[in-house]
Amino acid sequence: MRMVDVIHSKRLGNEHAAEEIRFIVEKYTAGEIPDYQMSAWLMAVCLQGMTAAETAELTLAMAKSGDIVDLSSIRGIKVDKHSTGGVGDKTTLIVAPLAAAAGVPVAKMSGRGLGHTGGTIDKLESIPGFRVDVARETFIEQVNRCKLAVVGQSGNLAPADKKMYALRDVTATVDSIPLIAGSIMSKKIAAGADAIVLDVKAGSGAFMKSLEEAQLLAQTMVDIGKQLGKRTVAVLSAMDQPLGREVGNANEVREAIEVLRGGGPADLQEITVELAAHMCVLGGVFPSLETAREMLSDMLAGGQALPVFKRFVAAQGGDPDVVDRPESLAQAKFRTEVQAQADGYMARMNAEQVGIAAMLLGAGRKTKEDTIDLAAGITLRKKLGDPVRAGEAIFELHSNKEDDSEARVLLEQCYELADGPVSPGPLIRGVIE
Ligand code: URA
Repeated sequence: MRMVDVIHSKRLGNEHAAEEIRFIVEKYTAGEIPDYQMSAWLMAVCLQGMTAAETAELTLAMAKSGDIVDLSSIRGIKVDKHSTGGVGDKTTLIVAPLAAAAGVPVAKMSGRGLGHTGGTIDKLESIPGFRVDVARETFIEQVNRCKLAVVGQSGNLAPADKKMYALRDVTATVDSIPLIAGSIMSKKIAAGADAIVLDVKAGSGAFMKSLEEAQLLAQTMVDIGKQLGKRTVAVLSAMDQPLGREVGNANEVREAIEVLRGGGPADLQEITVELAAHMCVLGGVFPSLETAREMLSDMLAGGQALPVFKRFVAAQGGDPDVVDRPESLAQAKFRTEVQAQADGYMARMNAEQVGIAAMLLGAGRKTKEDTIDLAAGITLRKKLGDPVRAGEAIFELHSNKEDDSEARVLLEQCYELADGPVSPGPLIRGVIE
């Protein structure tokens, strides 16, 4: 088989045979197909698309390019959860202990933040002592003992995706539904869970800006799961403003603890209950979504997931006292406000710009090599639909830098007020099973 023929075939819009897809992924990972040929093929895929069968084959080939984690020694149905990424998205910190408290074993691998989106691993590292690099046996033993472990992605998880993603990033080929779906699902398949709950976000702070694109991505990922024998459910949720009120790392952990104590913002409670409900139904813990939602709402309100979170923090070397004293987590030296210039109602917010502003304050990375400031971040004093008076704070900036003007300029321009009342749309936009 010659790569030039495979590229030509895709350029003409033909469907690849399974052997062709395996050839591309295996030879590219082994360094036997050069970047210029892979770039040409990726561009042909962007322009011509892929069938469901091709996308599933691509996903499997990428998953098999490295380790496939064997979780069979963990008792029960292991259910993973993945978010396509957003701003202020600290749901894993709540969903994982909540599902675990209900009886679902959660053995999770999470990523770091890049650009305007945060990552669970960075957030967890704001807990003093918390270790994210845990040996495989310890990880499995911890899930059997505490029902929950969250670690960083191992180096050899879907290496084909790592190499392809780096190339896509510099060849304008990220933006393709089959390539995004294959990239995400290959890592989920390699991570070894029995079933997967996807939180596919749509809106100004998400990868997919429109609901239609998010639906297509969600359907493609659910189809891949089905073809590869992993039960997969996708929840579509709005990312037209940051989730909750905190954006950053230590401040997001504080907010997650507030929700685990039975308080916190309503949107964060709603999405965590919805995602955990799907995990519990897939995990066979509750017979129906209605029952799961009801039970999990009560459990969250009653603080029943908090002790699971505390045990999990202690098991991974973190200081469990932060759960009782979240104010002891890192706090920034400076706090300033962006204030409203007029009266009105919060009508629109560009969540991506809020994420970029948080990154500029130090809460995120421009490049993978950057280090982050765990105390930096932004608090939203107003959310969509809230009445606003001139002079009131819209955002509170947390920074260790004296000069926060770059972030401030972005925040001043990232929202719009309306004259009359505004009702924000629903948070949960649909479910694809
Ligand atoms: N996230 C991924 O893991 N892969 C993509 O292609 C896009 C987002």
